[in-house]
Amino acid sequence: MTARSHDEYPNLRCTSHPLISHNLTELTDERTSSRAFRALVRRLTTLLIYEATANLSLAETTYRTPLESTTGGRLDQRIGLVPILRAGLGMVEPALDALPDAEVWHLGLYRDEATKQPVSYYNRLPERCPDDHIMILDPMLATGGSASDAVDVVKAWGAPSISFIGLIAAPEGVARMLRDHPDVPIHVAALHRQLNGDAFILPGLGDAGDRLFGTM
Ligand code: PRP
Repeated sequence: MTARSHDEYPNLRCTSHPLISHNLTELTDERTSSRAFRALVRRLTTLLIYEATANLSLAETTYRTPLESTTGGRLDQRIGLVPILRAGLGMVEPALDALPDAEVWHLGLYRDEATKQPVSYYNRLPERCPDDHIMILDPMLATGGSASDAVDVVKAWGAPSISFIGLIAAPEGVARMLRDHPDVPIHVAALHRQLNGDAFILPGLGDAGDRLFGTM
């Protein structure tokens, strides 16, 4: 897989792969049920995580196979996953499949329907960040307000490095993140066209949290 970075948005990595395009088409189709939607979020996250973890560092280690001594590499960074509730929850399990030793810290933010501003309602971060790298998980980057606030919180917590893993982004959200947090790479399956008047992504998929949990 190759992650394209956009000239306009040096913080954005879009992974182009037929499996991603195929699953994204299914995900965004209005006929997709919640049950299928959950499975598709899992599958897409699994595919995206490989690209998003391409720069993790390895420590060389010497060990024995059943036949002889050899050397290999083991991940030497402590990784924390920060799903933004609710929709980010759908990405936790596949991220943990790839990174079984990662810790999961929950942040609850919802976007106020009238103001479009994120409202914080839950934070289970301990006093100090114990991890070397934090991956923020949220399928949607619309205005970028929620992601930017989440990064503010995680930076204030002391995270040494941060990345954002999503499924769909709007140009407005990527630009907001570039302005607020140019040091945070954004890994998504697709950059969609624009936001509508209600700050929903077009063509988009509607509300990821509602579609994941059947609460439309
Ligand atoms: C959605 C989405 C992001 C946020 C994106 O969550 O999952 O968290 O909106 O919008 P923004 O980039 O404009 O901030 P929502 O507020 O609908 O909450 P939910 O996950 O509980 O459905």
